[in-house]
Amino acid sequence: MDYSRKISERQWNLPDKGELESRREETYIDDIVQKDHIERRLLENLNGIHTVFDGGAGSGRFSILLAKQGCRVTHFDISRPMIDKARELAEREGVSDRIAFVEGALEDLSAYPDRAFDLVISFDAPVSYTWPDQDRVIGELVRIARKRIMLSVSSRLGSLPYLANPIQKLQFILDEQADDPFVRRCVNSREQMIDSFRFDRRRADKLMADGLMGGEEEIAEYERGGAPWCITYTFMPDELKAILTGFGVKNIRLSGPGAYARTVPREILVRIMNDPQQKADFLDFCYRFDSNPYVCGMGKDNLFAMGEI
Ligand SMILES: C[S@@+](CC[C@H](N)C(=O)[O-])C[C@H]1O[C@@H](n2cnc3c(N)ncnc32)[C@H](O)[C@@H]1O
Repeated sequence: MDYSRKISERQWNLPDKGELESRREETYIDDIVQKDHIERRLLENLNGIHTVFDGGAGSGRFSILLAKQGCRVTHFDISRPMIDKARELAEREGVSDRIAFVEGALEDLSAYPDRAFDLVISFDAPVSYTWPDQDRVIGELVRIARKRIMLSVSSRLGSLPYLANPIQKLQFILDEQADDPFVRRCVNSREQMIDSFRFDRRRADKLMADGLMGGEEEIAEYERGGAPWCITYTFMPDELKAILTGFGVKNIRLSGPGAYARTVPREILVRIMNDPQQKADFLDFCYRFDSNPYVCGMGKDNLFAMGEI
């Protein structure tokens, strides 16, 4: 079935995607925590890194960061609106000459020779959107890496709580008055989501067993001309580690960005985020807590992995 890629392509090519993606950290606290975790991981592991491949690089959150650190970056993404936004931001930051923008799908990395880049990264789940090719895609990302690989994929244990908490995203909205369309939808449908909720044991068992979010409903919506959320493969921590080990990656470390923050109610999270000192201390502590491999599965959406080639 090739629906997965077609649905993903349509979703990410929605015209406002690049703009919305570039504003996530102004809008959602879980994104602040997650991107902060990844940024620290990157900055702590740049020794000997001159060239980087960023697969599913989006609006440039990390490709631009790395170009500003002096790396030459290949910014690779399936979405034209994302690339356009990233190019605009890279120009504003004065680093567009260090970034090559490439439109393409992770399912085909044949243009790149083995060990072409010192560091290969792919963050915030692009690999999960390549189902059913996710294992092969990881193998391809490892193949083109010379020194190090860092990935964040959708976490199965981290996604299962959504099935018992339809209002989970509300916990992480920084400003409930924001005009972001998803914020408006979450805020306006809160009561209705609670009233209509019923715990569906079969859905939870299914996600736990096969790791797949989305399927028949998304396909039907796509066929009607819509752009549903992507069919998403969610990984278990030991599964991701075994796949990377199987491709020869060594010294694998897993972490769960967002595991600590998800235990904190919104009222408290917002207070912390609005006080610069508390925010800095909290993000420091989240990084330590979420780096503990015992909580990696409970990263809010993502499971992070890094390893050496
Ligand atoms: C949630 S965004 C993450 C962006 C960026 N990596 C970050 O962490 O800020 C996911 C990105 O993956 C891209 N993507 C999704 N499926 C892809 C595929 N099969 N090949 C390449 N890019 C893909 C989307 O266009 C989108 O820009």
